[in-house]
Amino acid sequence: MTDFRATASDASSASEAAAAPGVSGASGVSGVPDAGDLAAMRAHYVAEGITEADCAADPVEQFGRWFAQAAAEAADPSGVIHEPNAMVVSTADAQGRPSSRTVLLKGYDAHGFVFFTNYDSRKARDLDANPHVSLLFPWHPMGRQVVVTGTAARTGRDETVRYFRSRPHGSQLGAWASAQSSVIASRDELDAAYAALAARYPEGEQVPAPPHWGGYRVTPLAVEFWQGRTNRLHDRLCYVREDVSTAWTLRRLSP
Ligand SMILES: Cc1cc2nc3c(=O)[nH]c(=O)nc-3n(C[C@H](O)[C@H](O)[C@H](O)COP(=O)(O)O)c2cc1C
Repeated sequence: MTDFRATASDASSASEAAAAPGVSGASGVSGVPDAGDLAAMRAHYVAEGITEADCAADPVEQFGRWFAQAAAEAADPSGVIHEPNAMVVSTADAQGRPSSRTVLLKGYDAHGFVFFTNYDSRKARDLDANPHVSLLFPWHPMGRQVVVTGTAARTGRDETVRYFRSRPHGSQLGAWASAQSSVIASRDELDAAYAALAARYPEGEQVPAPPHWGGYRVTPLAVEFWQGRTNRLHDRLCYVREDVSTAWTLRRLSP
């Protein structure tokens, strides 16, 4: 089986690290590097590469293969991945100003990649104005990254309600209690809102899905698979298509 684990640093970076300012823990906190350390931080990728011949014809199938390997790492107590479905979702507002945040992938298939959020949140306001979105899966400990770019559209209400009902009771209440991305006066305000909801909907009572909460499905137009290799000669294989009606083309990009 391929060993995905990356060593902390390679031999050449160790000597650079020794020469780098602040490397001996100038942050003053054990194990916490100061800004000077960052230049010396690099992983030595030991994983095998990927070739065009290894890749599935379809990027969603290829994503499934890598996701299964990341999930197996997460399931293994000595594995190197924590939440394989955590992805960085980047949006841009109507003026093109970008913002990013971590969100959990809750499903994927031939139609796209699905996540759930608050429809009044900053990301949702961005997506209302500009549906272009990027999803980045940072499987760094495996020396891998996947970047999906495409457009997001709200899921149907039925799909949202189905997923909402599968959430733990506390998370259902949390979705009601939080006006995500808005400024609140204090933590107490949030806790009080949650307590009031918990009194109204005790454990075991069905919580309705909030109207301002739901899913987005990202239809991919490009999916890039990045595999770290030695000497920074990484593999980058990118599937692209013009639109959903055209076939995927696989291209290799220079690292
Ligand atoms: C590991 C992790 C998982 C998260 N999952 C979600 C999620 O599935 N949906 C969501 O709305 N926010 C999730 N968040 C919170 C978001 O990162 C973010 O704070 C929130 O969605 C508000 O983002 P916005 O103000 O940019 O819209 C998660 C955060 C972390 C660190």
